[in-house]
Amino acid sequence: RIAWVAARKGTLPAEQRIVLRRVGLINPDDIEEYILHDGYSALGKVLTEMTPTEVIEEIKKSGLRGRGGAGFPTGVKWSFVAREKSEKKFIICNADESEPGTFKDRIILEGDPHSIIEAMAIAGYAVGADEGYIYVRGEYLLAQERLRRAIEQAREMGFLGKNIFGTNFNFDIHIHTGAGAYICGEETALIESIEGKRGQPRSRPPFPTTHGLWGKPTVVNNVETLANVPPILLNGADWYRRFGTPSSPGTKVYTILGNVNVTGVIEVPMGITLREVINIYAKGMKGGAAFKLAQTGGSSGSLIPASLQDTPMDFDSYAKAGVALGSGALLICDENTCVVDLVKVLMNFFRKESCGKCNPCRIGTQRAYEIMCAIAEGRGKIEDLDHLLWLSDNMYLLSNCGLGQTAGTPIKDMLKHFRAEVEAHITLQVCPAGVCKIKAFA
Ligand code: NAI
Ligand code: SF4
Repeated sequence: RIAWVAARKGTLPAEQRIVLRRVGLINPDDIEEYILHDGYSALGKVLTEMTPTEVIEEIKKSGLRGRGGAGFPTGVKWSFVAREKSEKKFIICNADESEPGTFKDRIILEGDPHSIIEAMAIAGYAVGADEGYIYVRGEYLLAQERLRRAIEQAREMGFLGKNIFGTNFNFDIHIHTGAGAYICGEETALIESIEGKRGQPRSRPPFPTTHGLWGKPTVVNNVETLANVPPILLNGADWYRRFGTPSSPGTKVYTILGNVNVTGVIEVPMGITLREVINIYAKGMKGGAAFKLAQTGGSSGSLIPASLQDTPMDFDSYAKAGVALGSGALLICDENTCVVDLVKVLMNFFRKESCGKCNPCRIGTQRAYEIMCAIAEGRGKIEDLDHLLWLSDNMYLLSNCGLGQTAGTPIKDMLKHFRAEVEAHITLQVCPAGVCKIKAFA
């Protein structure tokens, strides 16, 4: 059942495709092709051969961790919802993929929409929910169209609706589309948005597992996380644990961008290194330039310097090295990239996407952007660097949600790994990469 598919026939080594195993092989608009490729067999197996507790235990045993960025254990999350005594529970698929440079979920939704429907139904059975929502990014029009068609087909074939597989299990799914706000990918802002309110994060705790949609216990899982569920239940947790590392089993879908020869999407085992991604899958740096840094997980990820190129890419190894794996974007930058310019762009993104609910984030991201502009234009002062760190610490400690808490991460990484380059902008009025238009040299 594992498809070993060469990403580009004969030119790249085989990827390890679990999540993407059907993408590009089947017609996503045809439910029969999905069924021919094991589709809905995991749901059938679960409903007819396993109890909800057994399903959760198998997912726990597999070690599956959330692929949206945070790596929370999926089986544990499901067990939190399953133990709640509530007449109503929900499953939400977070498909509001908005992290810059991340388009892995889009590929899954467009190429294999039924896998998400099947996984959500399994999650519903496991935790006792009969209703699900897929919150799809507003710009993902093709994904929305394919999901709508897939839901209709699944209803017609009896995989959604009442008495699925002749059992007393009922489950149905709605689609809710986003409207361009990055913050609606934060799970509680997403829930507010479905409820028809302004998309602003709630305070956590309580977590959605106890107080989610309409105040009811809710599972919120990322698209890629859910796409792992049917193959785990078909093949077993032990099979899944053969891939990846002991603490981060399975594969990871990455989007590769930047100054490399081959960009695109790959699915590889957790634990391979950045150097392997660049040299093997991206076929090296463009024009033979030197690698400078990679940015993981879009704007809320980390800046990975060359010294961490050989760190295994899994949740724990990265955390131990003080960096975050994030959502799966790998923006690879060469020596001609200016770190000041890069962080300035990221701060601009955060200040625009901050929902404005809390001061540390709303004001902190704006101030950080202004300081980065000053440094990039040669107006910076050396004491600005301490101010930037102070802002980052305060945003981390005092912000209400992940956006504000992680907005300062690129600043901290910049000053930890590239301080001399930043100082050159201030003290020498020079942009070593030749990117910033410093006024003294303009
Ligand atoms: P988090 O670590 O606070 O939570 C992760 C998940 O575990 C959530 O679903 C949360 O409800 C659950 N959880 C954590 N502790 C819990 C507890 N005690 N009881 C019950 N449930 C619990 O991370 P957060 O803030 O939800 O997400 C941050 C991540 O999102 C970052 O890693 C970032 O990279 C990623 N992200 C991804 C984007 C994308 O486009 N894929 C966009 C923006 C951010
Ligand atoms: Fe809004 Fe930022 Fe506060 Fe999050 S941290 S609630 S995005 S203002």
